[in-house]
Amino acid sequence: MCGNHLNEPAIGEQWLVDNPVFREFIDAVNEARKSSDDPEEVIAAIRPHFEEIMKKDGWLPEKFMNPAEGSGMGSGIGMWLLYRSLDGSLAFSSLVVPPGAETPVHDHLAWGLIGLYRGEQSEHTYTRKDDGSTEGEAELTLMKSQHLKPGNMYALLPEVDIHKVKTTGDQTSVSLHLLGIDNGCIWRHRFFPEEHKVVPFKSGYVNLPCEETESVAD
Ligand SMILES: [Fe+2]
Repeated sequence: MCGNHLNEPAIGEQWLVDNPVFREFIDAVNEARKSSDDPEEVIAAIRPHFEEIMKKDGWLPEKFMNPAEGSGMGSGIGMWLLYRSLDGSLAFSSLVVPPGAETPVHDHLAWGLIGLYRGEQSEHTYTRKDDGSTEGEAELTLMKSQHLKPGNMYALLPEVDIHKVKTTGDQTSVSLHLLGIDNGCIWRHRFFPEEHKVVPFKSGYVNLPCEETESVAD
């Protein structure tokens, strides 16, 4: 069973941020998740609540908007866990990208809803053209590029979930990532589109080792 770790008021959840605004949002997300098994319907139900929390200030502590040297994402990019369900079905994190830095091209293996909270970003989405049958190789095609400003959102679906983000402008960007999986602690993929390569990838969280998590969840 779970012990009393961190800010864990209920078995089966971890709250790294805990205040009324944040709790109201997560409660609404968890209600939306009960409403359907269809990722697109779940995302549609969550979207208005996500729009609301992005308009609000003060609920996200300053430390979760800081870059992090030596992170799994590289380039000083910090991915801070804010909340997750310990059954591995939901994680909410902040992704902090310094000016000029960009994430690797990566996938998520799940649905997701992402909103830009601070700064500006470009986002490039890819589709996979090969069938994945050759170990270590992947053929990607750039499908869409978009420029994001605070309040802008986009969804990821399991079949279209390969992308990279880059901070544009001179301000560190902070995007909020709601994923239907324990995004930081699962093995997923990093792609090298020009080399047609793919490698296993685990990003981790800046503020929580995955190993500790796995033992907590046992
Ligand atoms: Fe991502």
